[in-house]
Amino acid sequence: MPTAFPDSIDATLALLAAHDYVAERSLATALFLALRMQRPLFLEGEAGVGKTEVAKVMARALDRKLVRLQCYEGLDIASAVYEWNYPRQMLEIRLAEAANLIKDNKETNTFPRQTPGHVRRAHGDELRQGIFSEKFLIERPLLQALRGGEAPPVLLIDELDRTDEPFEAYLLEVLSDWQVSIPEIGTIKAQEPPVVVITSNRTREIHDAVKRRCLYHWVNYPDAARELAILARKAPEAPHRLSQEVVVFVNKLRGMDLFKLPGVAETIDWAKALTALNALALDPDTVNDTLGVLLKYQDDIAKIQGSAAAAILRQVKIELAA
Ligand SMILES: Nc1ncnc2c1ncn2[C@@H]1O[C@H](COP(=O)(O)OP(=O)(O)OP(=O)(O)O)[C@@H](O)[C@H]1O
Ligand SMILES: [Mg+2]
Repeated sequence: MPTAFPDSIDATLALLAAHDYVAERSLATALFLALRMQRPLFLEGEAGVGKTEVAKVMARALDRKLVRLQCYEGLDIASAVYEWNYPRQMLEIRLAEAANLIKDNKETNTFPRQTPGHVRRAHGDELRQGIFSEKFLIERPLLQALRGGEAPPVLLIDELDRTDEPFEAYLLEVLSDWQVSIPEIGTIKAQEPPVVVITSNRTREIHDAVKRRCLYHWVNYPDAARELAILARKAPEAPHRLSQEVVVFVNKLRGMDLFKLPGVAETIDWAKALTALNALALDPDTVNDTLGVLLKYQDDIAKIQGSAAAAILRQVKIELAA
């Protein structure tokens, strides 16, 4: 039996925390309501702020399978919903042909081309039904999620902004009716809807109709206290003083005009990298040497390295001394 849904916002916060996810109250509220109202949760936000992690943590916390649909340009029904196992179907046809050949020869004692038309048609219909049956159906993530049975999985539709609009329109139908239609088999409807988390990095706007079906939450960069709490869980080996300085330093970087701001993922990586270098606190040289863990564009690194990094570091030390 999967774990029951949390029965309050506090219980949702506690459940996330028990699985090392330090959420702000507004996210826990959106998540609690999404579970209660059986609606998808739509998470938008900058890169590396913990959107994907919400779905992973929910699957663990609720003891459900995680089904992940990673979106990309050109994603189609065959990759997202279902596909027929073409090579196996072909093999089945060949085998059936061979079997019929033998049978026809035995029954009529003549060449197969002299088999009466109605017998050939009957064989054909039977074969068609056979090869478009469950045995030859390959389930892709959306179908897997709808067929979860009594313990519906957590369905993560990751980075929806990478797909194109026709797929979004299709998804809209699935999210409205919790069903998909397969012409050769019929309609497949979920016994109970899966827990759905949709993420987007907002490289383009997602259609209003999709958003309307969901509960929406913008995932912000954490404030310093929350990011420190995240480090305590995700990089517990880092000395407390170092973690504090890392958090304040990264926070200041996020206020600067950079091409790509560091996310929580980068903060965790930086704290781990500095700990691996045995740093107990930040110093200008170590900052300069490890900026590549935080910033992933040479223009950004060039801008910060040297005097800018030194100036930020001075502010960090003054702020923490106060
Ligand atoms: N609130 C949080 N509590 C604990 N860990 C967090 C939190 N936010 C982010 N993380 C950690 O940061 C890392 C990045 O998170 P995640 O991959 O979910 O980000 P994302 O928003 O999906 O990023 P992207 O847009 O690049 O896909 C993960 O290792 C995750 O564990
Ligand atoms: Mg992600």
